[in-house]
Amino acid sequence: MDTVPDILKVSILGRESIHCGFHLIPYLARTVLTTLPASVYVLVTDTNVAQFYLSAFEEAFSAEINKLSSVKPRFLSRVILPGETTKCREGKADIEDFLLLERCTRDTVILALGGGVIGDLVGFVAATFMRGVRFVQIPTTLLAMVDSSVGGKTAIDTPAGKNLIGAFWQPEYIFIDAAFLESLPEREFSNGMAEVVKTAAIWDETEFTSLETNAQLIYNAIRTPSTGYAGRHISTRSTSQSLLLSVIRGSIYVKSHIVTIDERETGLRNLVNFGHTIGHAIEAVLTPHMLHGECVSIGMIFEAEVARGMGILKQVAVGRLVRCLRAYGLPVSLADQRVSRCPGARGLGVDRLLDIMRVDKKNSGPQKKVVILSRIGATYEQKATAVDDALIAKVLSEAATIKVDLSTTSLATQHVKMATPGSKSISNRALVLAALAQGTCRLKNLLHSDDTQVMMAALQELKGASFAWEDGGETLVVTGGAGSLQVPTAGKEIYLGNAGTAARFLTTVCSLVSPSAATNAGSATVITGNSRMKQRPIGPLVDALRANGSEITYNESEGCLPLSIAPKGLQGGVIRLAASVSSQYVSSILLCAPYAREAVTLELVGGAVISQPYIDMTIAMMRTFGVIVTRNPGTDVYRIPQGTYVNPAQYAIESDASSATYPLAIAAITGTTCTLENIGSESLQGDARFAVDVLTRMGCKVVQTANETTVTGPKRGELKAIGEVDMEPMTDAFLTACALAAVAQGGEGNTTRIVGIANQRVKECNRIKAMIDQLAKFGVQTKELDDGLEVYGRPFDTLTRGASVHCYDDHRVAMAFSVLGTIIPDTIIEEKRCVEKTWPNWWDDLENKIGLKVGGIELPRAESSAAATSGTPSPAASASVILIGMRGSGKTHIGTLASAALSRRFIDADAYFEAKHNMGLREFVHVNGWPAFRAAETESLKEIIQEAGTGHVISMGGGIVETPQARDVLKNYAKAGPVVHVMRDIEEIVSYLGDETARPAYGEPITEVFKRREPWFVECANYDFINRITVDDGDATNDISRFFKHITGQPNLAENVAAGKRSYFVALTYPDVMPALRHMPDLTTGVDAVELRVDLLRAPDALGAIPSPAYVAAQVAALRRATSLPIIFTVRTIGQGGSFPDNSETDAFKLLGLALRLGVEYIDVEISASERLITELAARKGFSQIIASWHDWSGKMKWNEDVVRSKYALASRLGDIVKIVGKADTLQDNFALHDFVAKANLQRGAKPIIAINMGVEGQMSRILNATLSPVTHPLLPSKAAPGQLSFAQIQKALNLLGQLPARRYFLFGNPISHSMSPTLHNAGFEVLGLPHTYELLETANVGEELKATLAAPDFGGASVTIPFKLDIIPLLDKLSPAAEAIGAVNTVIPVIEGGNRILYGDNTDWLGIRESIRSRAPSIGAPAAALVIGAGGTARAAIFALQSLGAQRIYLFNRTTSKAQALVEAFPDAPVKLIETLDAWPSEGPAPTVIVSTVPASATTTDGTIPGPVLLPLALFDATANGVVVDMAYKPAETPLLMLAKSAAPKWARVMGVEVLLEQGYVQFETWTGRRCPKHIVSKSVLEKYFATA
Ligand SMILES: NC(=O)c1ccc[n+]([C@@H]2O[C@H](COP(=O)([O-])OP(=O)(O)OC[C@H]3O[C@@H](n4cnc5c(N)ncnc54)[C@H](O)[C@@H]3O)[C@@H](O)[C@H]2O)c1
Ligand SMILES: [Zn+2]
Repeated sequence: MDTVPDILKVSILGRESIHCGFHLIPYLARTVLTTLPASVYVLVTDTNVAQFYLSAFEEAFSAEINKLSSVKPRFLSRVILPGETTKCREGKADIEDFLLLERCTRDTVILALGGGVIGDLVGFVAATFMRGVRFVQIPTTLLAMVDSSVGGKTAIDTPAGKNLIGAFWQPEYIFIDAAFLESLPEREFSNGMAEVVKTAAIWDETEFTSLETNAQLIYNAIRTPSTGYAGRHISTRSTSQSLLLSVIRGSIYVKSHIVTIDERETGLRNLVNFGHTIGHAIEAVLTPHMLHGECVSIGMIFEAEVARGMGILKQVAVGRLVRCLRAYGLPVSLADQRVSRCPGARGLGVDRLLDIMRVDKKNSGPQKKVVILSRIGATYEQKATAVDDALIAKVLSEAATIKVDLSTTSLATQHVKMATPGSKSISNRALVLAALAQGTCRLKNLLHSDDTQVMMAALQELKGASFAWEDGGETLVVTGGAGSLQVPTAGKEIYLGNAGTAARFLTTVCSLVSPSAATNAGSATVITGNSRMKQRPIGPLVDALRANGSEITYNESEGCLPLSIAPKGLQGGVIRLAASVSSQYVSSILLCAPYAREAVTLELVGGAVISQPYIDMTIAMMRTFGVIVTRNPGTDVYRIPQGTYVNPAQYAIESDASSATYPLAIAAITGTTCTLENIGSESLQGDARFAVDVLTRMGCKVVQTANETTVTGPKRGELKAIGEVDMEPMTDAFLTACALAAVAQGGEGNTTRIVGIANQRVKECNRIKAMIDQLAKFGVQTKELDDGLEVYGRPFDTLTRGASVHCYDDHRVAMAFSVLGTIIPDTIIEEKRCVEKTWPNWWDDLENKIGLKVGGIELPRAESSAAATSGTPSPAASASVILIGMRGSGKTHIGTLASAALSRRFIDADAYFEAKHNMGLREFVHVNGWPAFRAAETESLKEIIQEAGTGHVISMGGGIVETPQARDVLKNYAKAGPVVHVMRDIEEIVSYLGDETARPAYGEPITEVFKRREPWFVECANYDFINRITVDDGDATNDISRFFKHITGQPNLAENVAAGKRSYFVALTYPDVMPALRHMPDLTTGVDAVELRVDLLRAPDALGAIPSPAYVAAQVAALRRATSLPIIFTVRTIGQGGSFPDNSETDAFKLLGLALRLGVEYIDVEISASERLITELAARKGFSQIIASWHDWSGKMKWNEDVVRSKYALASRLGDIVKIVGKADTLQDNFALHDFVAKANLQRGAKPIIAINMGVEGQMSRILNATLSPVTHPLLPSKAAPGQLSFAQIQKALNLLGQLPARRYFLFGNPISHSMSPTLHNAGFEVLGLPHTYELLETANVGEELKATLAAPDFGGASVTIPFKLDIIPLLDKLSPAAEAIGAVNTVIPVIEGGNRILYGDNTDWLGIRESIRSRAPSIGAPAAALVIGAGGTARAAIFALQSLGAQRIYLFNRTTSKAQALVEAFPDAPVKLIETLDAWPSEGPAPTVIVSTVPASATTTDGTIPGPVLLPLALFDATANGVVVDMAYKPAETPLLMLAKSAAPKWARVMGVEVLLEQGYVQFETWTGRRCPKHIVSKSVLEKYFATA
């Protein structure tokens, strides 16, 4: 066989040393041996690559060596571990030792076979071994081929950073064998494509265009195995292979060109760092979870946005870059779920990223440098450009704010002239028309979207037209082909992604194609799309064309793409089309009809035609291109004459009318003038009427010509409220109108009443609700109506400033509130990126075209606060939750509670259905029958997913799983979003349903239905929620909230799993955990998680060693009710020291899969199990974490052996947490373990590791292990492993080892001798085995003694009580926001900040009050009214607590009103209302459901005859609902207030002062020790003592 391949050579540094081709191994062996003579050749590779290619190399070299006549050289190979961690000093030393051992000399040639890791490491070895030996690069990853192997940079990593030590060392050859890419995982391929796209973006537009359009073809090259050495010769090379090679070569060519000009990286070479300045910073945070290319991909988009923000790069280019990177499977924003699922993703704050960029090698001084693109294929400078931090920060921030300058009037003279993005519908039509026409047309204002992009690519592919850009992409020059179209090259499919309009229009366009004369042309045109496209219907259009004589075949499923369309031309004559589904079918035929062989008569049949305006739009545009369509009056019959379109010289695409409302509204609200080009009175879009119909009435001057609109606003603040306006013809514009109405005045009550917009409830979000909720943040009142809302305007300068607007990921909400933000200072638009859907450069246009300054804002990362709804959750985390399950399983109940816990909206699909069809379900079934009902139900499901796919909780009807279509929809949704199967015992369901009649009745016994549907529910859902409403008496809210938060990205992970902290778990070794549940508070004392040893579970009367899934699920559910700690789910086999049968791997993984479905937080997986099963499990883990563990039961493993390193590497790859368990025979073995862990932790991005040695000798390792140490408890039936210690034992040992120094805690105050605090804290220390003490320190004043105490090195913290809560403040360095607001400190905490110890003052009183209320009456939520009695320091804490609960009114009563008034002023944002008496409530307000008294018990009475104290009337308990009464008075236990409550309102919860003390004490304990306080024991000690002395 001929092994001389066809080679492409590229020259670098003056030598043609880069050889590219396919299947080069024999060729490269020969070339190396004959041109680089040596005594020994050493090939270094990693295990991954070795398994595929090592033997081929060995064979080729041995064959070639045999052919040599001279002295035969040696050929050696060295296989090392894969992965970045190998690229280190030890890794280098390891290879060097090998070379020395093999007595290699200066004439050695080293071959580096592998990815960039191998290339960098081996290159560096070659650079220094014997002061430098020759080496050859044989890259096997795409990244190595196009980037790391070219340029001569070699390096290793150190703990201080990546690539910090290395050398420039040029290889003799670089052999690029693209066939290696066939075994490369696709993610690694995409990783390399990022660099390829980057290179084209900075250097070569033609190359970029090819990458843009050919993603599918390029993937084909690596997905199709090239058997029989296909591709080695040009004659056997497929189209895709040639393309792949030319892409690689193109990229290498640019890099080697740049390297040749600038070998040592001075200026030009920096250009290849496009995307890397920001990309590297992202990588530093996310490594190793995200790959380099993935981070650079995101970095490129950010950096392109920086260029766009500088006014240098056009949005067209940014859009092309985004689409191109996406086509290669790369992430393009931090919102990508691959990013947000990374453990480190929370660290992606703007400041952190800027901080990392500060040390970039490219920087000059403090200025950051970024490669600025000027267009696709060119950069702004021939080097990186200095950019201000502020601009980078703005681009990186997730929220935006508009700088408002109300002082100037300069705006008043401003006249903005601009165009807004083109209409999507018109853009698509214009492209088809211009391409089919004769002559040249300049299209202006074309919308750049997926649709238009694939449309252009397809038309080019069909040789139907040619395209060129002018003005940096603003103008598209189309040279039409006058209707001539050709079949593409054989094997080439036209790929349309998910572009719906393109698919519909092109189907008819392709039927116009005539057979091609070219020899390599295919026999039919094939159009295809992505998997979603392959489900979208095209049937009616194909039916119509087939009936007309076209030959169209479905290549996969009936009614959908892909299609094969024979090149026969269109017949014409009468064409009948069913047009009730999509008007796009109609437009598709209309657009192509003039080119049919006979004039076309198009008859629309099959019911009402939908979206007539779009058909009119098509006809109007056809007229502009010279073809006049006539419609038979009063019918749906259209006549289209034959003809050829004629291109007008220029065609300006009309602006999108909805987008146009925003700049016009800005002119209206700011009193300026704005002229919009390309939209006027001739517009076919409904929203174009906004200016005339709405803005004129609001007092604006509107001038509209045929295609231009100019609006001048009245003076700022003078917009008029307009009573009622029907916005039915322009529903999308209602949000803009609301923003204006908020500041509009006049008429009755400044009211603007917007109606006719009910459909806006089911858009991207419920827009009516969204406007109501967000306007409220500005202090603007509204009223919801059935089909709209009323907005009550206010003078603009009385609106609340600084409102933070949540946008529900809806572009229109964001842009509408931007309008308001132009005159209300400090308005924040939270998710600024949601504008990308229709106007990606909205913020830049505000700045560069409208002249407003826009800033970036980083939102606080809300974690503990109740307002967790803000921020940008990742798409997956924000995906709506769908509930399915049997009727009567409790979906509605659970869904309602879940939506409250998640602050999301709840949709009941049944209600949705009834509203949509305007009839009840039973009635629908009665009228239309079951099949029609099921079909309509599936349609509704699709619609709901489409419209409410994020941010909702959706409950589906029980029968939704009955049809395969609906099941497919659900299964498809479950690939990225949560579908929860709500499970309930069938007996309970039967008894619950009883005589329910609202929903269609079953015609069969419900148990039969249950049997049939149950497997379907399981198959469609990816989560199970077990409904235990009737089993448990208690309140299910916690359980529901924990589960639903878990599946939506807020998992309940273990505290203290972080560097520098210690965390623990207790292993439950019970066959049945139920009897142990009541001991849970004891068992879990101090720990951070509980492990459920599933292998030990045995149902009481079950046989066999494998517990049933149902039993396991019930155990998990029960455990969750008993503890709020996260669960670790472990199935240990006998071989691994557990009791699950060996050889039952599949059963074990079924249970692990079940754990994922149940939303268990941690899943322990043994890495000795099949890697396929582990990877499959990990791929579905959602927000659970995998503990990848390895147990050495042989007892022979040594921690310094290679095997541990390789197991560690494997476990780090598979899991989120690594667990390695060995066995100690001597104390020494623990030191080796400690060494290993210390080294492993030094690596950047190291995963948390659990490392312990079994056996008594190993106890030392259990003491020192930091992450999730397993502990036992005296109450457990057996230790989970030999040598296990209890939590308290470990703490004592740590103290003795000097790892946990004893601290002293104090109470400051006077008098304090009766305080319960020492009892509280010392009891806690004792139980946890902590060596600390808590003492009283009673002093006369805050003087020297306290100062000395605070300064002592062993000072751990202090409680502060009366009278020092204010006096202590001057001694502290920093106060918490709560302490600041309350104006008092009750807790002192020494903390380390920036390396210094500082004293931090906090106030936990308010937390004690809040927790007392919340835990006693969880159902109270945000009380409508609350009462505070007293006006001292405690009252301040009470108000703060009530405010944080969201109380809508806080009545404040104090005898001295002046003191109370001061309090009202101290809390300007709280709804505090002074009241003068306690027996009547302000007329507009209800009676309180929460009462907090902060005055001494002796200052109150219930006896009206005693003068002096405040008389407590019965009216205090007027509220119709039950509530909570808290008396902060510490003694006596039963105060007059509590006694009154007991008799007058026995159902109210009563909280004594000592209970609040306990609550705030728990918080103190936790902040000081980082451990949960053992409440049950502490409270018992305190209450015993309290009542003994009371
Ligand atoms: N020197 C430079 O100029 C330069 C430039 C860019 C990156 N780098 C360095 O390159 C390294 C990253 O390189 P990489 O992305 O190639 O990673 P890599 O070398 O780690 O390879 C990625 C993975 O793919 C496996 N693999 C490689 N080829 C394979 C094949 N043909 N089939 C199946 N599996 C295969 C590897 O074993 C590894 O697990 C980093 O260390 C980076 O610092 C250097
Ligand atoms: Zn790179």
